[in-house]
Amino acid sequence: MGTSEAVLQVLSGANPLLFNSATCSGNLDSTFPSRFLYKYTKKRVSRYKRLFNCSSTLQSDLGLNRLKGLGYGLSGCREVNRLQLLSCKCQQAESVSGLTAEDGNGTWFVDSAKKLNLNSVANTPNILEFQDVQQFEQEKKSFTSNGAAGTTIDSVSKATVDCLEDEAWNLLRDSMVYYCGSPIGTIAANDPTSSNVLNYDQVFIRDFIPSGIAFLLKGEYDIVRNFILHTLQLQSWEKTMDCHSPGQGLMPASFKVRTVPLDGDDSATEEVLDPDFGEAAIGRVAPVDSGLWWIILLRAYGKCSGDLSVQERIDVQTGIKMILKLCLADGFDMFPTLLVTDGSCMIDRRMGIHGHPLEIQALFYSALLCAREMLAPEDGSADLIRALNNRLVALSFHIREYYWIDLRKLNEIYRYKTEEYSYDAVNKFNIYPDQIPPWLVEWMPNKGGYLIGNLQPAHMDFRFFSLGNIWSIVNGLATRDQSHAILDLMEAKWADLVADMPLKICYPALEGQEWQIITGSDPKNTPWSYHNAGSWPTLLWQFTVACIKMNRPEIAARAVQVAEKRLSRDKWPEYYDTKRARFIGKQAQLFQTWSIAGYLVSKILLADPSAAKILTTEEDSELVNAFSCMISANPRRKRGRKNLNQTYII
Ligand code: GLC
Repeated sequence: MGTSEAVLQVLSGANPLLFNSATCSGNLDSTFPSRFLYKYTKKRVSRYKRLFNCSSTLQSDLGLNRLKGLGYGLSGCREVNRLQLLSCKCQQAESVSGLTAEDGNGTWFVDSAKKLNLNSVANTPNILEFQDVQQFEQEKKSFTSNGAAGTTIDSVSKATVDCLEDEAWNLLRDSMVYYCGSPIGTIAANDPTSSNVLNYDQVFIRDFIPSGIAFLLKGEYDIVRNFILHTLQLQSWEKTMDCHSPGQGLMPASFKVRTVPLDGDDSATEEVLDPDFGEAAIGRVAPVDSGLWWIILLRAYGKCSGDLSVQERIDVQTGIKMILKLCLADGFDMFPTLLVTDGSCMIDRRMGIHGHPLEIQALFYSALLCAREMLAPEDGSADLIRALNNRLVALSFHIREYYWIDLRKLNEIYRYKTEEYSYDAVNKFNIYPDQIPPWLVEWMPNKGGYLIGNLQPAHMDFRFFSLGNIWSIVNGLATRDQSHAILDLMEAKWADLVADMPLKICYPALEGQEWQIITGSDPKNTPWSYHNAGSWPTLLWQFTVACIKMNRPEIAARAVQVAEKRLSRDKWPEYYDTKRARFIGKQAQLFQTWSIAGYLVSKILLADPSAAKILTTEEDSELVNAFSCMISANPRRKRGRKNLNQTYII
């Protein structure tokens, strides 16, 4: 029996049916018309009058946001009293189900009495690299110096930290974007003194995720619900660039609320949503991650609010299926990983991450798991669910097996034979040992390991990408042992990955000729800046979830402590530059919303770690069985490493 057959039999019972994209597409199409539950007027007059519009006699709230952004900084502790200035003629999005923090879903909300005992540093690394020991010890000392109560804030007093959180909440609320009087997202950066806003005045899908999570954890569900439903409607907008249209399921990278004159009435204006699917973005890159993040947020919304009615809606179910259909479409691939162009995710410009970058694979895996949980079991979805299960197993096998490196695996690659033509080759991708970069030989700690950035024929991208690794812990794409090993490595390499500001987006930087060739001599991506190994405070929230999942929250708490020494003082920058993150980024925006929201999410989760469950996913027994079945059923694995199952996979 072939591998995929074996997997399918386990997953689908005795009668395996291979996924057929044609069947699936038929099923999807038949449900598609029923998704239009909204009754907005659809205008296609110009590029700026897209799917929705609502009339308003007053200026857009988005514009007000930018004017209003005064009084930030250390003022903190200030109540925001947002005026509802819009008077819309259009029909509002359906009212939310009335859930609030008081509705019994406030269980995730911070219990202020519940503080972490930060003295229980149970998992400090046994082996640290020499150059890191000093810093690690220093951080640890400062971390535990307040002993008895275990609340550990030394250089920053508790009062200051509380004020910092108040300031962050105020800034987050100031960044809220309203459409027809209802909150639907947060602007990417909200610095009214900046003359170079580019597209940072838009609501980015990926940037909204930490904002959305912060609001969910605070019991404010409306904004998240509105965001989910409005972006869903944007998904079905016709998108084209030079007469070419991408797949229907594509979600925009960002959208903007525009106020435009109302047709035929000079005295009135209307609001329209104007999405960007990549046709205006720098580099014209389609955001593969948007739809994947949307699915992850949808699940988190249901888990946190208890309101499952959103995910059960026909239009939402169809939206999920359309994203999956796009991701699961047949192609020429031999790999179960998703093939994408450069810059299709958080790193949204040329950085040598085309092909099968880890970040996309990690988000893809999450989206598959979350969708599996949310899709309504109905006859029409059977093929899709089967394909999804099949892909989950193949994807986790592929990543765990081929993306993983540690000292042992590195030594194995170092001794690889090449040009093995056969089914049972050990060096399947024909990796030449000379590709092992000299920095890695020194850098790889004795204890720990990580998932490499990308894998292609004859090419391994050995750079460490933080988000892909962290998110693989959060969703269980990495095994338990691998997850701990990633955290071990992050502790051992604290001076490189955290230093003066968590977290490096990737390590190390591309330099010299490599930088010229790979980035196209991108002046924004110079070594140790921006996406080329710059440090991004927003990554703190994902890191916190990963640490909590592995029951090692003290590592995240230490990173938060590093961040809060500077974030407010530096005006919440988008990113930091230099090897140790000492400078505010060359072209970093200030008052970057996801830096603010990321900090808040980390704080809330550290105070109530159980709340992280709305984001983590686990393999269920059905998948574990299918996975073991796949490994034992593959007759072509005989020449592989003998104890591979125990070491890497399970
Ligand atoms: C930059 C980042 C991208 C982010 C956007 C808005 O383009 O690369 O990840 O979504 O800014 O903050």
